[in-house]
Amino acid sequence: MDKKVFVTHALPGERILALSAHCDMNVWLGPGLLAAEALREELAGCQGLLCLLTDRIDRELVEAMPQLKFVSSMSVGVDHVDVAALTERGIPLGHTPGVLVETTADTTFALLLAAARRIVEADRFVRQGEWRRENRWSPDFFTGKDVEGATLGIVGLGAIGQAVARRAAAFGMQVQAWNRSPRQLPGISLVELDTLLQSSDFVSLHLPLTAETCGLLDARRIALMKPGAVLVNTARGGIVDERALAEALASGALFAAGIDVFEEEPVPEDHPLLGLPNVVLAPHIGSATARTRARMADIAADNAIAALSGEPMPHCVNPEVYRRGPD
Ligand code: GLV
Ligand code: GLV
Repeated sequence: MDKKVFVTHALPGERILALSAHCDMNVWLGPGLLAAEALREELAGCQGLLCLLTDRIDRELVEAMPQLKFVSSMSVGVDHVDVAALTERGIPLGHTPGVLVETTADTTFALLLAAARRIVEADRFVRQGEWRRENRWSPDFFTGKDVEGATLGIVGLGAIGQAVARRAAAFGMQVQAWNRSPRQLPGISLVELDTLLQSSDFVSLHLPLTAETCGLLDARRIALMKPGAVLVNTARGGIVDERALAEALASGALFAAGIDVFEEEPVPEDHPLLGLPNVVLAPHIGSATARTRARMADIAADNAIAALSGEPMPHCVNPEVYRRGPD
């Protein structure tokens, strides 16, 4: 009998069709996202799960599914999954690195430029008729911050951080970086995190959210940032103390921020960043182009197909599960 696989959303790409040929596949077709309770019901009896970053795969869920043999997430980040709970059971977890690198670096730069040059604030000004009403064009009208000649501090010099560094170099920025393990790259000086924060005009985060990076940019470190600096976060909201960030932006200690990710998503209505004019906001769209999302879905499907065929997943977060003998 075919193995049962549950997919928590209709997916783009072509490989999902190939996956359906390998298993008895059920897909949640909405409306909306699958609630946690419904996921638990749908997953009962399934050997495989293909999920999104919006699905919470916690220890309780993993332990309630004794038949579960693999999980494939259509995301590069896996902070929504209890990886240790899967690894203990020898269950491989797939993710989708690589294909979203350039797209996410573009989003980072879009937010960086929009925050530096107040593009969203200016759009609102024109759209709401303020420009016509006041006709107050002047030499200091909507003045922002220059990018050319500024120093960009990249926190986390993995593939996305490096792709952002390439863009920054083309914009005439000086690039410095901090990485948990030292990584030498031409044109990028490696510095300590606190030094980076003190000496960067722009700071961009490119780390996964883990126990070590959670709250890394806390109130103390935000206070270290150069006066008038800009923070860009396309990584994970939990890396930043959002309340301390909002205070630094409201007081003018920081010039602006571009934020694509939040500790809680969707972001709550009363979130302190939402009321600030100097924050450019986006709803976690770092990898959101049709081509990249299709490529991510294809990798997620290929990870699942490999698991169903008894082969190692091509992109596995916890490959140590393949090194142990059978339980
Ligand atoms: C996006 O945030 C991802 O992890 O793929
Ligand atoms: C700007 O449009 C200028 O002409 O200086």
